[in-house]
This record gives sequence, C-alpha cells and structure tokens, in this order.
Amino acid sequence: MTIKISGTGSALPEKTVTNFDMEKLVETSDEWIRERTGIAQRRISTGDTVSTLAAAACQSALEDAGVSAQDVDLILVATCSPELLLPCCACQVQSALGADRAVAFDLNAACSGFLFALNTACAYLNAGLYRNALIVGSEVLSKLIDWSDRSTCVLFGDGAGAAYIERTEDRVCENGRRVGIESVVQGSDGAKGMVLSCGERAVANPFIRQEEAVWPYVRMDGQEVYKFATRQVPRCIQEALEMAGRTAEDVDLFVLHQANVRIIEAVAKRLKADISRFPMNLSRVGNMSSATIPVLLDELNRGGRIKKGDRIVLSGFGAGLTYGASVMVWG
Ligand code: UT7
Repeated sequence: MTIKISGTGSALPEKTVTNFDMEKLVETSDEWIRERTGIAQRRISTGDTVSTLAAAACQSALEDAGVSAQDVDLILVATCSPELLLPCCACQVQSALGADRAVAFDLNAACSGFLFALNTACAYLNAGLYRNALIVGSEVLSKLIDWSDRSTCVLFGDGAGAAYIERTEDRVCENGRRVGIESVVQGSDGAKGMVLSCGERAVANPFIRQEEAVWPYVRMDGQEVYKFATRQVPRCIQEALEMAGRTAEDVDLFVLHQANVRIIEAVAKRLKADISRFPMNLSRVGNMSSATIPVLLDELNRGGRIKKGDRIVLSGFGAGLTYGASVMVWG
C-alpha cells in the first residue's frame, strides 16, 4: 500500500492589489518590494473567508480526483486566520461540502501548516484508521495585517489550496518510480516563537484582567525569519531526501513555501540544484502562509507541469517557528 495525492484544487479572492496600490497606502515602492521579495501583486479578500475559500478549493480537489464529498473520511484544515474560533474551519468545510461521513478538525502550524496536515493525515492513513483525507491550507491574512506597517503589509495575500490524498495499491510508473509519498519530515523551534507572532485576546474573566495589551496584528523580525529559513529549509529537505534514500539530483520539482524569491534562490544554491526546478508563483499571489504550497501545487498540476512519475519535494517554514519537507512521486 502507498499514500498518494490524487487531486488538487485552489481558490483565490478576485481582488488583485498591486505594488503600485501598496505605494498609495504606505511609504514603499514597487522597486523595493520586487527587489527584496519578488512579489508584484497579491489577492486580497473583499468578503471571502477562510472557510469559503477552503470549501471552494476542496470542491475543486474532489472534482480533480473524481470522488464525491460523501467518500471523504477526514478533513484537515491548516490555518492561522480562521474567521471563527468555534466551530473550527474544517467543520464549516464539512458542512459546505456535505461530507457527512468525515471527521474534521483544524491545525495551526502557520506557513508549515499544509505539510503538518499532510503528515498528520498520513499518520492516520498509515495506521489504517482512514482511507483518504482532504488536506487544506487556507488563509485570510489581510485581517491580521497592520496595513500601516510597511515591513509586513506588502508581503502577504489571501487564498486557499487543497489536496485529496488516499491509500492505494502500489503502482510503478513508466520511469520505474513507485508512486506515493516517500518521506515526511517536520520540526518546531518554539524558543524562537516571538520572531513572528500575532496576538489574540488577553486573559480576561471575573477573576483577572491582564494589564498587558495584546497586539492583534502580525509582528515579524524579518531578518531572523530569513536566517532561519535559509538554514533550516535546505537542512530538512536533505533529511527528507536521505529518509527516502534519494538525493537532490533525483528531484524534478521543488515546491517551496512562497515567501521570498531570495530565500528560494538561497535554498536552491545550498542544495546545488538548478533554480529552474523551483517553480514560483509569489510574484502573482504573495505569501499566503499555509496556502502557498497547495496553491502552487494545484497550478503545476493543472498546468501540466507535474507529470506522472515526477519526484517532487514540498517544503516550508513559518511561525512557531516550524518547518517541514516531504518527498513524493506523482502518479
Ligand atoms: O512565511 C514566513 C513569513 N516571513 C518571511 O518569510 C520573512 C523573511 N524575511 C524576508 O523576507 C525579508 O527579511 C524582508 C522582505 C521581510 C525584508 O527584507 P530585508 O532585506 O531583510 O530588509 P530589512 O528588514 O533589513 O529592511 C531594509 C530597509 C529598512 O530601512 P533602513 O533601516 O535600512 O533605513 C526598512 O525600514 O528597508 C526598509 N523597509 C522598506 N522600505 C520600503 C522595510 N519594508 C519596506 C517596504 N518598502 N515595504
């Protein structure tokens, strides 16, 4: 038996906000944003929520896989920007899809969330508890952004991506590679947590009212996150490749978290892998946290860029701090 991705989907808000639009909001320039990040525009919600975007992405992943919502056993939504604390987004998605049989819950590992959801779903499927899962990364970060802080507001966008994964019989592709997920690696470094944070509500009840104000917007030490990413991402990709018994040379595409083109270039350099194997979409959609990897994966899948038998690596990093990587053969 093996576990493979059988369908992908994504959903983006309609509104496009360009760097020139950002110039009207904060002291910035198209030139600065492009040079430092590679981002030219992002999609911003004018009403879409984490659950509506997630449900739309799931619907299209189910259609791509050719299965119905009633077939779904497990729905995992990775998000750090849910519109409600209760119920969780995955239950809202379950209801929107009519996936009555599914077990649904959320998890939050910020930008690494999709990989953590993939690993969690694989653990359930490998344990034999479920046969399939919808895994989703969905974010409306625009409501967590301080739109007067130029160091963060230019970076992020809204969107959702989903993948339908299932347990299937072993199958060998024409190129001799065995289809399925070969390895997953994940890690956390909570001691560095406050370099990328966003507050919620302070403790307040009839017995205590915390004096310290909570800052309910994203705050980031960009350079610390940059250093962490350029060190940790290549390291965990190497670990995932070793676990799968492969090297970077055996990989056709590296589908990385889309935060900054310079981070992706640095990872490519450390892995001694040509940058042409690192597809990117961040110039068009910005950093959508947990949604970046599945949205890019869906674009590559639908655009015919990923072919059966291709070996791909997914890898990301984010708040927590967290990081992860997975090696798989598409089929
Ligand atoms: O999903 C994980 C999310 N986070 C990340 O991936 C973040 C990783 N880090 C980064 O991508 C980069 O650190 C940034 C893109 C956030 C920043 O790039 P940088 O090259 O590290 O710039 P910096 O923070 O050192 O800032 C350089 C200058 C500063 O001005 P001074 O002090 O040199 O006068 C900033 O105030 O650029 C200024 N600056 C801006 N200027 C124009 C910061 N943001 C902007 C802006 N427009 N939007």
